[in-house]
Amino acid sequence: MNVHHFFAKLFLVTGLALGLALPGAWAADPIVIKFSHVVAPNTPKGKAAEYFKKLAEERTNGRVKVEVYPNSQLYKDREEIEALQLGAVQMLAPSLSKFGPLGVRAFELFDLPYIFPNKETLYRVMDGEIGKRLFTLLEPKGIIGLAYWDNGFKHMSANRPLRNVEDFKGLKMRIQSSKVLEAQMKALGANPQVMAFSEVYSALQQGVVDGTENPISNLYTQKMHEVQKHLTLSQHGYLGYAVIVNKAFWDGLPTDIRNVLDKAMEDATRYEREIAQKENDDALAAVRKAGTTEVFVLPLADRIKWWKVLLPVHKEFEDKIGRDLIQAAYKVAAEVEKEGKAK
Ligand code: LMR
Repeated sequence: MNVHHFFAKLFLVTGLALGLALPGAWAADPIVIKFSHVVAPNTPKGKAAEYFKKLAEERTNGRVKVEVYPNSQLYKDREEIEALQLGAVQMLAPSLSKFGPLGVRAFELFDLPYIFPNKETLYRVMDGEIGKRLFTLLEPKGIIGLAYWDNGFKHMSANRPLRNVEDFKGLKMRIQSSKVLEAQMKALGANPQVMAFSEVYSALQQGVVDGTENPISNLYTQKMHEVQKHLTLSQHGYLGYAVIVNKAFWDGLPTDIRNVLDKAMEDATRYEREIAQKENDDALAAVRKAGTTEVFVLPLADRIKWWKVLLPVHKEFEDKIGRDLIQAAYKVAAEVEKEGKAK
């Protein structure tokens, strides 16, 4: 062996011993983001979580690995927020109705019945001052809000037809953990029952509750239409999400990585909002096709009757949500109307 070969071999052996010889081994362990959520993979949230994973992994050349856990596989509603605060998971996208137990009731603005007359108003509220202000409330809880995702308007379902307000009388209706939703169901004469999303199907099946409210994408992907004979397309309320991260984790990321992830989240958010309506339209078509549920489109005259019964909930929550926030949302709706963008 000549002297060059000797040194080459020595270099290789030492390098191997140090774990440096193979190109891949130069890379440090990837940064793992566990992204837990409670809905099915084939929903707007489920698909956008996967899309974010793809963008984040590609654009960081594998320095970041995103593990998506759908369908409450890791945690149910309430536990997932605790897990995020403890750092057991790094990213979630809970519905805006689930921040109350964390002590941040102002998010329940989004639950007020009929608060958003159209999507344009909703997006301006989310993306403007109101949305930003709500995110600042999360920081003292060790949480950063990254984006707002959409799942469209909610509709009522039960095993009896729900056409008039009187039809709700005495019904046990599952709700998310929101005081506004509780007040909404009470205003209709129903008995609200808070329950984790993962338990709703079997609760409906066993008659523990009689009905619920959902965007159709959730109703269909959890097979709730199999155990709900009637669905009323009421659009009485809204369901969206806040994509949130553990603050210590996010702040601790190398700046270049965080910048890439911020951009990936921006792109995933655009994608999410683009598919939300179509996913819900497709789900409605699938529910109709399944034929297990009678679908009733609430006529405008009846919507106005529901609206009259539900509007006092806005006033009732002025203190808890903030009168200024509610007024600010009305103002956005009026601007949209004036500009003729109220599609
Ligand atoms: C629900 O609990 O009904 C929803 O928040 C589920 C979800 O995440 O869409």
